[in-house]
Amino acid sequence: MQISGKTAIITGAGSGIGRACAVRLAREGASVVVADVNDSGAAETVSMIAAAGGAAAAVQVDVTRHAEIDAMFAFARQTYGGFDILHNNAGIGTGQPRFPDCPEEQWMRVIDVDLIGVIEGIRKAIPLLRQRGGGVIISTASMAGLFGFAADPVYTAAKHGVVGITRALAGLKDEGIRVNCVCPGVVNTPMVTGARERLTGEARAQMDEALRRMPMIAPEDIAQGVYELITDDEAAGYAMGIMVGQPRRIVPPPVGLPGSSGGLAAPRAG
Ligand SMILES: NC(=O)c1ccc[n+]([C@@H]2O[C@H](COP(=O)([O-])OP(=O)(O)OC[C@H]3O[C@@H](n4cnc5c(N)ncnc54)[C@H](O)[C@@H]3O)[C@@H](O)[C@H]2O)c1
Repeated sequence: MQISGKTAIITGAGSGIGRACAVRLAREGASVVVADVNDSGAAETVSMIAAAGGAAAAVQVDVTRHAEIDAMFAFARQTYGGFDILHNNAGIGTGQPRFPDCPEEQWMRVIDVDLIGVIEGIRKAIPLLRQRGGGVIISTASMAGLFGFAADPVYTAAKHGVVGITRALAGLKDEGIRVNCVCPGVVNTPMVTGARERLTGEARAQMDEALRRMPMIAPEDIAQGVYELITDDEAAGYAMGIMVGQPRRIVPPPVGLPGSSGGLAAPRAG
């Protein structure tokens, strides 16, 4: 898909990776709906895009409130006449105390934002993109969607779910809807730097050691991966791994079956 002239909705675009993607897609000529629960962060992203001569508008949405996802799509329709690209990017980590010591509400919120919010965004976007004649759905999964991230098991479970639904929907390509995800390693955003600031003593020293061994990627590098997945008309059901110092690459699923990117083929009518 050529990005210029299209409309992209990006959740969690008031900070970090979402902001970098919003700025990049606007630079490529897209109109961007900057969707975030944090309205001041979203407004800041819109200002950055406007200052660079791009088109963007902010809408406040909490992806765990499913009526607000509908309102986000309605906002895109009213502001730009619809959308061609949905980037499900909003996400949170479990934080402290770690699973299993964290209270139920804490880990369930991670599933609500990082997995159910993504599934509901995809579910509501598909019929709208069908009406539009096609489009692209990207989600921000994580390397924790491909490997076990011991520091945050529930986040790992949610991100595996995002990779799973992405691969299972590869077959929508036949209808002109391409569903893909990016799987970043550690990215230099407030999610990581803020988590580090909240740690003390031994825990912070452990995190610093981990960051020394796995240096942080710039959010703009994730935006480049997103750009590549949007513009590659073959990309469907892809989980793109993005690690510092390594080329971006599509991580293959462990088994391959027809009809999806590694999942079981959906039964076809007739
Ligand atoms: N930073 C990393 O190392 C890293 C690595 C891999 C994947 N990711 C994923 O990238 C995505 C973006 O994270 P980031 O690092 O840019 O973090 P960030 O904290 O800088 O940005 C996340 C944004 O999501 C918004 N948000 C949170 N909950 C929301 C909700 N319920 N509804 C709408 N918006 C909400 C926040 O307000 C914030 O603006 C997340 O899905 C995260 O899991 C991050």
